[in-house]
Amino acid sequence: MQQTKVPRLLYAIEHGHLAILVAMFDLSKRAVILTGATGNIGPTVLRAYLEQGAHVAIPVRDDAKGAALRDSLGDLAGTAQEPRILVRAADAGDRVAMEGFVEQVLRAWGRLDVVANLIGGYAPSDAASRDLAAYRAYWDQKVATIVTATTACLRPMRARSYGRVVNVSSMAALKGEKGAAGYAMANAALLRWTESLAEETKREGITANCVLPRIIDVPDNRAAMPKADPSRWATAAEVAALVVFLSTDEASGITGAAIPILART
Ligand SMILES: NC(=O)c1ccc[n+]([C@@H]2O[C@H](COP(=O)([O-])OP(=O)(O)OC[C@H]3O[C@@H](n4cnc5c(N)ncnc54)[C@H](OP(=O)(O)O)[C@@H]3O)[C@@H](O)[C@H]2O)c1
Repeated sequence: MQQTKVPRLLYAIEHGHLAILVAMFDLSKRAVILTGATGNIGPTVLRAYLEQGAHVAIPVRDDAKGAALRDSLGDLAGTAQEPRILVRAADAGDRVAMEGFVEQVLRAWGRLDVVANLIGGYAPSDAASRDLAAYRAYWDQKVATIVTATTACLRPMRARSYGRVVNVSSMAALKGEKGAAGYAMANAALLRWTESLAEETKREGITANCVLPRIIDVPDNRAAMPKADPSRWATAAEVAALVVFLSTDEASGITGAAIPILART
């Protein structure tokens, strides 16, 4: 992988004679797999990674969506000779497909450092319902996909004793909500699985964390709650900032964490 020169933003905070310099995080040596990038917040998270210099590989289930996402990036996508983004059709819930996808990333860039999972979706489900198939569908969508995608990434991470796993769960993982039983169950399962992974990998240079938004200001939520005040909700950029931070070298001390993003709710 050719190292991209990222302009390092230095800003000085002057207090009399004291100047504190804060450098932005540098991901220019890092290769990231980002799942769920075609959803509401995916493009913002993708841009945040690229702006910090990362190379980002995206498995998609819809080629047209993947192409549209790549085309929206302009110069950030890199060049034909030195692409900084790789988009391929691959089912995140399919072990063979994801192991093949990881191999493509290793062939392209020679490394894999980070996997960030945004896969998810919301639909109501009552706890009193006898529809177990609905619960399984939630499990398949959020847990089976993310566990499969992440475990496919572990082999190269373990081989180099370096890895960052960042899963976007939900505050519903911490407390069940009326009419959202399947959603809460799946997010709670993802959180507990991530904690277990963190325990298993904590001495291998690998961290695993969850971020827990409550509600994000995305078009779906504005349409569903026209009377709500969206300025109270977390922005996609606020979620992206935490996902990217947990992907950095500097976040090496944080693992097994579940970090709420309550914003102004
Ligand atoms: N939006 C919120 O207010 C909110 C609040 C708390 C937590 N969250 C969580 O934050 C994450 C991102 O939110 P979002 O609003 O961006 O979600 P979203 O728009 O619903 O996007 C979900 C992404 O997951 C992919 N996906 C869904 N099912 C899949 C499957 N079975 N296999 C592979 N990919 C699948 C979608 O792919 P396609 O494009 O192909 O459909 C899309 O890229 C989600 O995990 C969500 O649960 C969101």
